[in-house]
Order: sequence, then structure tokens, then C-alpha cells
Amino acid sequence: MERNELLNMIKEEQAKNGSVSEGAMADMAQILQLPIGDVYGVTTFYSFLSTKPMGRHVIRICKSVPCFLQDGAMVAAAIEKELGISPGETTSGGRFSFELTNCIGACDQAPAMLVDDEVYGDLTPEKIGEILNSFD
Ligand code: FES
Repeated sequence: MERNELLNMIKEEQAKNGSVSEGAMADMAQILQLPIGDVYGVTTFYSFLSTKPMGRHVIRICKSVPCFLQDGAMVAAAIEKELGISPGETTSGGRFSFELTNCIGACDQAPAMLVDDEVYGDLTPEKIGEILNSFD
């Protein structure tokens, strides 16, 4: 019961503030009477949650095998080149954060990525510039 409650609290915090800070984790641990290590463990387990502030838009490119076999690495390299950042980083103006993630459930459109909540599939390096330019 506390675990479900914890995950809901973490998701709410992420939705409200874009990330889950140490202070927020400490508050949740106190409220639910859980060790802070448990809160940290849940927060860092899910790739859609973050403990650090993220950009206005979050790109999550799938690094799982089906996407990898369909040139996912070349698409990731195109994103790095377009934005000038590596996975785990945020652009200096805070426009984009770039993350690698496990399967996002769009294997039939491999290689695929999420930008915020939207899936982009059948990607090629050539499509990346146009997709990213559609975000403010
Ligand atoms: S393996 Fe990439 S979306 Fe499933």
C-alpha cells in the first residue's frame, strides 16, 4: 500500500516540478515513514522519473535491442550532433534534455523515441532536425 502511495507521490512531484529533488524525497520518506533509500530507489528505478531538473522538452531515445538493430545508435548520434549534448545532459538554454531509455513499446516502429509524451517512430538521422525544430 505504501509503495503504491509512494509511486503516486513521486509521479505527482515529477509532474509538478519536472523532477524529484532530494528535499522532496526526504519529505515523502517522512510522510510515509519509509527509509529515504527506498524513496530514492523507486525514483531512480523508472527512467521516466528524474532526480535532476530537466529541460522544457525531454527526448528519450530507445536503446533496447530491436531499436539498436534498426540503427538507433545513428539516430542518437544525430540528436547529439543537432543539440550538441550527450545523453544525460540538458541544452544550455534548457530547451531539451536528452536521455537513453529502455523499450518504450513502439518496437514495430523501431528505431523510436519519445519527446515528452509523444512517440516518434521509423526514425532516420535525416528526420531528427525537422522533428526537434517543431519544439519551442
Ligand atoms: S525496443 Fe525500441 S521501442 Fe521497443
